[in-house]
Amino acid sequence: MTMTGEMGVEDPAMRRAAMVSELREDVIVSEAVAAAFLTVPRHVFAEGEPLEAVYDSNTPLVTKVDSRGAALSSVSAAHIQAVMLERAGIEPGMRVLEIGSGGYNAALIAELVGPEGSVTSVDIDEEIVARARRCLRSAGYGRVRVVRADAEHGVPEHAPYDRIIVTVGAWDIPPAWINQLSGRGRIVVPLRFAGLSRCIAFDRVGTRLVSRSYCLGGFVPMQGQGTFTDTVVPVTGDAALRVDGPDPGFDVPALRRAIHGRRIARWSGAAFDLPDELELFVVTSGPLVPFLHASQALVDQGVFTPAVTVGAAVLVEAGSFAYRTKRGNEDTGGWESGVYAHGPNAEDVAERYLDLLRRWAAGYRRRGAARIEYIPGDGDGGTPRGWCAPKRHGVVAVSWP
Ligand SMILES: C[S@@+](CC[C@H](N)C(=O)[O-])C[C@H]1O[C@@H](n2cnc3c(N)ncnc32)[C@H](O)[C@@H]1O
Repeated sequence: MTMTGEMGVEDPAMRRAAMVSELREDVIVSEAVAAAFLTVPRHVFAEGEPLEAVYDSNTPLVTKVDSRGAALSSVSAAHIQAVMLERAGIEPGMRVLEIGSGGYNAALIAELVGPEGSVTSVDIDEEIVARARRCLRSAGYGRVRVVRADAEHGVPEHAPYDRIIVTVGAWDIPPAWINQLSGRGRIVVPLRFAGLSRCIAFDRVGTRLVSRSYCLGGFVPMQGQGTFTDTVVPVTGDAALRVDGPDPGFDVPALRRAIHGRRIARWSGAAFDLPDELELFVVTSGPLVPFLHASQALVDQGVFTPAVTVGAAVLVEAGSFAYRTKRGNEDTGGWESGVYAHGPNAEDVAERYLDLLRRWAAGYRRRGAARIEYIPGDGDGGTPRGWCAPKRHGVVAVSWP
């Protein structure tokens, strides 16, 4: 499709329309969200970026990096913004807090709440705040408030909020976010637990939060008081276990021997499907399911499958471990799940993993099957149900109804 107007000049409105048509194919369902994306000039918030990148729905536009080149701030990809806005269900007249500023997403929210509503955006970084204010003014959204603060404390001056949209990776939900939500408010937050991040839309129910939907979605990490880091336990020079919490005391010498020892393969006879959902089921099946990360060199040597280069959920039993794999099988709908296991107890740990794979395929093989709750630690939210991850300010509880 040509993206030039009558004078042969690239036309951002045409690119915008093309991006919205594409987003309508899988994420945008409401006319209000489509209209917001058609109206807000994304390129005004992406100074110096080529229009092709600006209007590519899957491309985030990095606006600041740290000394090692890792992104500290970006205008997020339009795709995840559309997902979050659809799940937020923002209506005209609402009061909305956006955590993490880029300007563009706040302008989309301003379109959704209309002149009767209000939008406050907060960012910890003065440079990002100045940039967001400048871009918002240029695009005609000077009414969006951009505040510089650590979002750990929310923005109490303009609370309560009907919606809070968190656009930075969070490891916990500080009390301020719940307290500043209105009684029937909703928060959409990319929350990390058990080594995974899920973008969750939570409804406030009393003082607890109950998920109404969740999906994959990664963001730049939180800075300030909410900063978090995973624990990485090296096993060999090119393989490590990553855990969310302190090192539980793995038997590293035994695991090192297991890596280079015999490997067994076992098959579940069950379908392999929706790997992100299956992974969530596995990591919330026990108190500690770490991720195994290994180098391409170990894959090339035939020790591991390529999945470990990005991290594979592993069941560890002393000096033995297992992780999942798949193979083609028409009898199970195209793919069948299975496991590779190493170590003296490889048979046992493989069997435990296979049991999880079969249970998931039989009972939960659909998107969004888990119920995720956040129960604040002040004692008012009641008793957590199911698998629990303790956080600084409360507990994430996951159950599989
Ligand atoms: C992905 S960007 C925000 C994207 C933006 N909402 C947009 O329009 O696409 C994440 C932002 O979160 C900010 N941030 C990180 N930690 C923060 C904290 N503790 N409080 C407030 N902002 C924070 C970063 O400075 C960064 O600008």
